[in-house]
Amino acid sequence: MQLLDGKKVSEDIKNEIAEVVAKMKKNGEKVPHLAAVIVGNDGASLTYVGSKVKACERVGFESTLVKMPSTISELELLKKIEELNQDDNIDGFIVQLPLPKQIDDQKVLMAIDPSKDVDGFHPENFGKMALDMTTFIPATPFGILELLERYNVETAGKHTVVIGRSHIVGRPMSILMGRKGFPGNSTVTLTHSHTKNIAQITTQADIIITALGVPNYLKAEMVKDDAVIVDVGITRVADDTNPKGYVITGDVDFENVSKKASFITPVPGGVGPMTIAMLLKNTLLARELRRD
Ligand code: GUN
Repeated sequence: MQLLDGKKVSEDIKNEIAEVVAKMKKNGEKVPHLAAVIVGNDGASLTYVGSKVKACERVGFESTLVKMPSTISELELLKKIEELNQDDNIDGFIVQLPLPKQIDDQKVLMAIDPSKDVDGFHPENFGKMALDMTTFIPATPFGILELLERYNVETAGKHTVVIGRSHIVGRPMSILMGRKGFPGNSTVTLTHSHTKNIAQITTQADIIITALGVPNYLKAEMVKDDAVIVDVGITRVADDTNPKGYVITGDVDFENVSKKASFITPVPGGVGPMTIAMLLKNTLLARELRRD
């Protein structure tokens, strides 16, 4: 069994980006600038956004954090997005999800200028992704592709089973694994809450990508020998013995599944850090496209 070490690979990617940024600075060019909008005080979301801002500093990007109260109206948020769309100094921005109930996610994502949509959630970018056109690929699926590529995991002709059909991870992942090229050329099954006999499907899988948010969902009996396992789950599970009061737990029963797997991502230290590295990569791309 080999670990797909997202922590290490994400450090490599950040070093590569930092080198590019250092050259930009040396040439007197503007460096990439990412803005992140966060609405409300959800602890996990604040942590994720904080990590994104910190990663910007690490590679030499500029960053702006926009904090808005949970009581904000949809209109106020849309106004802020228009401001960011118009701000020439900002190359790309994200609106951290989930948003409060009074706000329609889809309306917000549609309001982002596609050329600044470094999350790749705008329908225009999502459509381009599905059509193999150059665009911003959503950071988590993009990070998984990069991890598979850097470990040279064979994907062509393999059966990839994706668990979960979220717009952020499962759905784009299922499209990307079936695209032409490497990583890709997989035969993909997208499973979800209405799927029957899921274990019958997962035991046929060469590659399993779980993006469910149910701790320890994927058991050893659901996996065939030598399968490749990618765990996107990052659920906070209460734990009094931990100073934080919780532990981050994946969708995979790592202890038992890792004994059967050929490759497996740990949680934490697998897909999570890759997501942040790929957001930086998309922001760099946004800057480069704006320069042309
Ligand atoms: N919430 C969970 N994952 C993500 C992500 O990749 N981007 C944004 N904007 N919100 C998220």
